[in-house]
Amino acid sequence: MPIILEPTDLSIQRAAEAMRAGRAVAFPTETVYGLGALTHDPRGIAEVYRMKWRPSNNPLIAHVLDAHGAREIVEGWDPRCDELTSRLWPGPLTLVLPRRANVPVEAAGGRATIAVRSPSCPVARRLLQELGGESISAPSANRSGHVSPTLASHVAEDFASELDLMILNGGRSEFGLESTVLDLTTARPTLLRPGTVTLESLRQILGDVDAPELMEQGASPGTAPRHYAPRTPAVLVPINGMRAALALEPRPCAVLCFDPSHVPSPHTDITMPRDARLYASILYDALRSADTLGCARILIEMPPSADGLWRAVVDRLRRATA
Ligand code: TXA
Ligand code: MG
Repeated sequence: MPIILEPTDLSIQRAAEAMRAGRAVAFPTETVYGLGALTHDPRGIAEVYRMKWRPSNNPLIAHVLDAHGAREIVEGWDPRCDELTSRLWPGPLTLVLPRRANVPVEAAGGRATIAVRSPSCPVARRLLQELGGESISAPSANRSGHVSPTLASHVAEDFASELDLMILNGGRSEFGLESTVLDLTTARPTLLRPGTVTLESLRQILGDVDAPELMEQGASPGTAPRHYAPRTPAVLVPINGMRAALALEPRPCAVLCFDPSHVPSPHTDITMPRDARLYASILYDALRSADTLGCARILIEMPPSADGLWRAVVDRLRRATA
């Protein structure tokens, strides 16, 4: 198994040293855990793609301390970034901007653009500080297509065969869903991936923001319809439709729903909170737990809304069940 380290000063130093030596290290963020390497070191970037089994055309997010760090890796500076970054950074908002020529193309999946965000998680920030503010490129620390990790143990499970991998432990991720991805290189700002920073709050700052229903592969490869998925086949069930759906299931199922009284035996109920923020923070842990039960299927009750933070939850549920 990989090595899980408590985030002492010494282990932050060790992690930074490993990254300077061209290796990938897993670290916590407020969204999900990341598997990071130095943006400017193609050796580490190659290691990230290899370990994740990630297609080389799927670009990575660069993590920086602040807007100043972002300006080091993007070309020019879109004036809209001033308000976005002063209001929403550090935090779970990723901006897609023109890539500066000195940033290795491998770190951007071959694109002329680069995605950048400033994490608020204290452990991630200490690691960035230890690296002197150098940018860390990091996808979520899961095998490609699998559910993102919100605990250090999730990372260790996905990378069980990577005996040398260091994982900095930051406890449970605060938000539990990947960052909001906003493309500022299109004619109008485009939401590529909904997240904790809501579409509504982006529209308040920017006015118009396009929000296509399901992004196609080309715009953002990580937004393929099936993604963030457990290994057990999962299906979405309409609100209040759980009793009827379970009546048709002869084999035991794992059930994520709001009312456990709708889940008779032999099915296993995993009760989900009605508060969107709480729901998001435990969703991936719940999907991973459901996966370990050895059930024929996972049934998931549709949330009561698709607005605000629920938009991101519903997006992930659609992809987990696609
Ligand atoms: O919350 C997060 O964003 C986490 C933590 C670790 O920061 N990271 C994360 O990375 O979710 P990843 O690689 O799993 O997802 C990045 C998403 C993918 O959908 C990718 O296609 C998109 O961002 N992306 C990255 N660079 C892009 C670019 N230049 N243009 C369009 N989409 C991009
Ligand atoms: Mg991912």
